[in-house]
Amino acid sequence: MKLLIIVFTLIVLTQCCEGRYVDWLPRNIVDTFTNKTSQITNYVRSKGRSLKQFYVENVRNKITSYLGMNNLTETIPTDNQARIKRKFKDYVDEAQASDQKVFDVIAPEKIEYNCNNNDPSIHMTTPQMIALHGYVSESHTIVTEDGYILTVHRIPYKRNATSRVSPRKTVLLHHGLLGSSADWVIPGPEKGLAYILSEAGYDVWLANVRGNTYSRAHMTLNIDTFAFWNFTFHEVSQYDLPAVIDYIMDTKGWDVKINYVGHSMGTTILFALLSTKTQYNKVLRAGFALAPVAFMTDIKSPIRLLAKYSDNLEYLLKILGANEFLPQNSVLRWLSKHACEINHYEEVICENSLFVLCGHDAQQFNRSLLPIILSHVPAGASTKTLVHYAQEIKNAGRFQQFDYGAEGNLREYGKLTPPEYPLHKITLPIALFGAENDWLAGDSDVTNLYVQLANPIDHYIVPLKEFNHIDFLWAIDARKLVYDKLVQLLEEGVSKSYFVNDISHNDLNV
Ligand SMILES: *[C@@H]1O[C@H](CO)[C@@H](O)[C@H](O)[C@H]1NC(C)=O
Ligand SMILES: *[C@@H]1O[C@H](CO)[C@@H](O)[C@H](O)[C@H]1NC(C)=O
Ligand SMILES: *[C@@H]1O[C@H](CO)[C@@H](O)[C@H](O)[C@H]1NC(C)=O
Ligand SMILES: *[C@@H]1O[C@H](CO)[C@@H](O)[C@H](O)[C@H]1NC(C)=O
Ligand SMILES: *[C@@H]1O[C@H](CO)[C@@H](O)[C@H](O)[C@H]1NC(C)=O
Repeated sequence: MKLLIIVFTLIVLTQCCEGRYVDWLPRNIVDTFTNKTSQITNYVRSKGRSLKQFYVENVRNKITSYLGMNNLTETIPTDNQARIKRKFKDYVDEAQASDQKVFDVIAPEKIEYNCNNNDPSIHMTTPQMIALHGYVSESHTIVTEDGYILTVHRIPYKRNATSRVSPRKTVLLHHGLLGSSADWVIPGPEKGLAYILSEAGYDVWLANVRGNTYSRAHMTLNIDTFAFWNFTFHEVSQYDLPAVIDYIMDTKGWDVKINYVGHSMGTTILFALLSTKTQYNKVLRAGFALAPVAFMTDIKSPIRLLAKYSDNLEYLLKILGANEFLPQNSVLRWLSKHACEINHYEEVICENSLFVLCGHDAQQFNRSLLPIILSHVPAGASTKTLVHYAQEIKNAGRFQQFDYGAEGNLREYGKLTPPEYPLHKITLPIALFGAENDWLAGDSDVTNLYVQLANPIDHYIVPLKEFNHIDFLWAIDARKLVYDKLVQLLEEGVSKSYFVNDISHNDLNV
């Protein structure tokens, strides 16, 4: 396979030159970066303020208990469920009958609060946070075959490394839906997976998906256009992931064997990649999937409410906003407002899309991290990606490409239904990490996935009932409950038979 992507690098050692740009870069790209950076900063600031207050007021707990998902002994009463569904349908029907603006009228407007938290990390980028803790950090710019400009971050060696040469052992961390490279460093050096792997002797790369905080640019497309946001996890798996993997190999040498660690959507794209561009099964060393999402039959997340509308693509894009799935999205506001209302809570703003969609676990959640989490999350996703997930839920048990409807499918794929991802073609050794209380990656779905893997390493279930989707990133005991096991499996590589591919050879010219 030949490198088709155009790759160029901007290595920015954060201690020196944030904000300076090489002059051979086309002017409009520089402008886009500069303008976007200040927009993002302002956006993040305002979001951080309002959301912190929201959490201080405990709304998070209320949503969770309303959805009844954190307490396994307690589920939502059926009549309540029916009522939510009915109300949601009425809401959608009503909007359908009139202009889409109805949504913004029904849902409460965003309310700004003052935030007194002075933690500097709130306004820092991933490389700045890494540098803050005494590590060297790098930013690399990679252009995908279809023109998206991605920023990938890197911790090249451990904090007190005596040599400035990065280790051969390499790991690529890929965040999930609405996430970014910040996900892996937010809990700080003792608890953040990026740091733990760095100290364990790995060269750590942190990917950022197209459209998120660090990858909001394109060679030709304007970020405000539908053409820019016209992608789902499928395009990410076909363009972003190969570009990043090829780039790392280009940088480190083509014999390097990359370990892949993904969370949530970061696992979906791995399965989609390995089943379609099968040469990557030989390129990578092993895959480690935290909260793996492929089949979606066992879903507790409110995203399931959207599933029944997933047939009407045009309409869903209209109500959700065709381009970016915005944190201030009115449907989401509706969902969360309703969550409070139906339980007779006072009307409050419950608006963080990540927590609304993924739930949370009070026991493992470190409240001190909240301001910094809220300032970095959600980091951006396309509405189309959400619709794609909603389709997966609707087509329970089929892990397939985007459904454009019969006519559209005929045009896109030459047949009436979208192609399924042929999971049997995945030969990379893969370990799955699941949790019982995961709203998006249900037990049965993860098990179903596991039995289809040709080279399974392990199906590890976190030994804590309450452990949830995002606990894989920030749980107080994530190290003990997940990362220790992860590092152990990573290190075992040399002795175990499933790592036979470990002998370095260049498989790329297939
Ligand atoms: C960025 O902002 C500057 C100054 O406001 C403006 O002149 C320039 O056209 C903007 N560039 C883009 C790509 O929006
Ligand atoms: C879970 O639900 C049970 C039964 O409804 C209740 O007794 C218990 O207090 C709940 N636990 C929590 C942590 O809310
Ligand atoms: C690195 O060195 C500093 C000072 O020399 C020390 O305080 C710190 O604990 C060391 N960190 C690690 C991860 O070894
Ligand atoms: C969106 O993507 C689909 C599939 O790649 C393509 O058929 C369609 O033309 C694209 N639409 C726009 C406006 O870019
Ligand atoms: C919670 O996060 C804060 C800030 O990073 C940290 O200092 C503290 O040790 C964490 N608490 C626990 C129980 O992990």
